[in-house]
Amino acid sequence: MAKHFTIFGNPVQHSISPKMHSFAIEGLSLDATYDKTLLEDGTKLKEVFFENKLDGANVTVPHKEIAYKLCDEVRGIAKDIKAVNTLVLEDNKMIGYNTDAWGFYQSIKEYDAKDVLILGAGGTSKAISLFLKQKGIKVSIINRSSKRLKDFKDFQTFTWDSYHDSYHDMVINTTSAGLSDDSYPTPKDLLDKILSNTKTAVDVIYNKNTPFLQLAKEKNLKTKDGSDMLLFQGVKAFNLFYHDRFDEKDIEKFMRKAF
Ligand SMILES: NC(=O)c1ccc[n+]([C@@H]2O[C@H](COP(=O)([O-])OP(=O)(O)OC[C@H]3O[C@@H](n4cnc5c(N)ncnc54)[C@H](OP(=O)(O)O)[C@@H]3O)[C@@H](O)[C@H]2O)c1
Repeated sequence: MAKHFTIFGNPVQHSISPKMHSFAIEGLSLDATYDKTLLEDGTKLKEVFFENKLDGANVTVPHKEIAYKLCDEVRGIAKDIKAVNTLVLEDNKMIGYNTDAWGFYQSIKEYDAKDVLILGAGGTSKAISLFLKQKGIKVSIINRSSKRLKDFKDFQTFTWDSYHDSYHDMVINTTSAGLSDDSYPTPKDLLDKILSNTKTAVDVIYNKNTPFLQLAKEKNLKTKDGSDMLLFQGVKAFNLFYHDRFDEKDIEKFMRKAF
């Protein structure tokens, strides 16, 4: 029987997930569809999931936290992150997972960083920091304001004012600075210092040479954008939809065509 998948978000028009998943469906010769669902009211997510007879779905901004609350069961690191980006139908229940953090780790593990500094303290920062810590990596967080840092009790945290210089193997921008504007994630003089004390700069924003990445390139650092994170969270989600039936390398090969 044909399977049906979607991505829930608001906005969702820009999402390339349908393209990624459709390439994998086609490449693996499966009978399935994957479309986009603009969901304005996140509280309706479960209703719509069952009404539309979905076998699985992805969830993007701003519904990841409400999705976590609405699931019949949440598995894996999503329980700690308290946000869900993948839904799977199992025995008529909506099961939630988070593949963003795994996707990020997959995209940077080649660098073998032991000590990272994360810029930003929102949802993505929370997911990434927990996962990296579980992998034994030392993680510090720096954020514009102190409010969200309260969610990071087990980490060394700084605001722009309290930050003191030290070396980190990798600096990761998880703020939305540079997404739809040309701003830096911290004041320029502070970012200059931070980037002068690292080897690698990673931005989770994808398909854009952000001012953060541009400055890192000028300092001859290794750089990486968020495309592979997006790709790998999709690979993992796809295999969850199919109960781990496929080789991740094959899914990756087909999904890469979307980029
Ligand atoms: N590649 C991927 O697959 C992928 C997946 C998920 C997310 N993302 C990207 O990750 C980014 C963050 O998403 P999110 O959901 O984590 O956002 P979020 O929960 O809204 O958090 C935003 C964070 O950015 C900070 N911030 C926002 N504007 C800033 C600015 N102009 N200067 C400095 N700090 C600023 C906020 O600081 P305050 O606390 O001070 O407000 C907060 O720490 C977005 O760009 C998103 O597109 C990429």
